Amino acid sequence: MSALPRVRELPPSASGRSRHDPLLGVAHAALSAAWGLTAALRRQRPVPEPERTHTLTVADRRVVAQDRDVVALTLAAADGSALPRWFPGAHIDIHLPSGRVRQFSLNGDPATRDSYRIAVRRIPDGGGGSTEVHDDLAVGATVTTSGPRNAFPLSMPGYGSPTQSFRFIAGGIGITPILPMLRQAQGLGVDWTMVYVGRSADSLPFVDEVTRYGDRVEIRTDDVHGLPAADDLLGDCPDATAVYACGPPPMLTAIRTRLAGRDNVELHFERFAAPPVVDGKPFSVCVASTGEVVEVNADETLLSALRRSGVAAPYSCQQGFCGTCRTRVLGGTVDHRDTLLTDPERDAGTMLVCISRAPEGERLTLDL
Ligand code: FES
Repeated sequence: MSALPRVRELPPSASGRSRHDPLLGVAHAALSAAWGLTAALRRQRPVPEPERTHTLTVADRRVVAQDRDVVALTLAAADGSALPRWFPGAHIDIHLPSGRVRQFSLNGDPATRDSYRIAVRRIPDGGGGSTEVHDDLAVGATVTTSGPRNAFPLSMPGYGSPTQSFRFIAGGIGITPILPMLRQAQGLGVDWTMVYVGRSADSLPFVDEVTRYGDRVEIRTDDVHGLPAADDLLGDCPDATAVYACGPPPMLTAIRTRLAGRDNVELHFERFAAPPVVDGKPFSVCVASTGEVVEVNADETLLSALRRSGVAAPYSCQQGFCGTCRTRVLGGTVDHRDTLLTDPERDAGTMLVCISRAPEGERLTLDL
């Protein structure tokens, strides 16, 4: 999403210093005054931009792990028309019949233009999205989708990246964004290896699709090899390696810690869960519709506190990139921690409750 022009700063000169043109100063003052005068109007505007959606039909459904807890769905337009293009690492939003919105990585072949393939692991104690997919999306069911979007893009060595080889690391269902990356790396003849880890062989989806790459792929399961250490995940990882990792938080933390200070290794990763709260302070929110006050602890997200208190708030990625949890702020100061909202959106009184917070002791009033 491109940021709108900022009008609060003078344009810098070519040498990096501020210009001192008096006419620019007058123009800046006028713009600043206009910005301030229209603040109230901007607060009234609905902020979310409409995103194009598609109604797709479940054209195929296949169990892809021996434990039967992962299903792959092929989604296609009813008239067979081409769908928007995508590239490895992309995901789509699925708007489920219940109203839940969830993101799923596209894991098929980007060259297939008339369908998307996603895969979903059943998580019985999750937020309900995965069980809804498993239980309610039979072949023939329709869902609304938006996207694709890509928060985990692949930069190819020799095609915009200074690296020379890939190390792919997938944990369980984290294989889904990696699968199209393997296909692309293999197709372009780039040097790559992968380690694929999980609890047991039964739990790993798409084993048949990764083993066809032969010795490039190592499969390690906890029941046979024990929990993998960072060096097991990274392999020899020489300089000029690009690491692409997707899996559970402890796996990603181990990789990030091990690569600290390795400036010649690129690390790209995607989470499946909310990141841990860093430097959080306690604050509170008032739910405008009921007057209920919810205390937010230093180590929990605002979204977690709302859910703990039974306050309904939409969410999906829980990482500040999808925008599903946009909420209007009617009062209080926000500590914005996302990279999605533009300054005008923030100025208009919008926050992402999954990741943004408030200063210590602050009370926010939310339009919930
Ligand atoms: S849930 Fe995706 S941005 Fe908050």
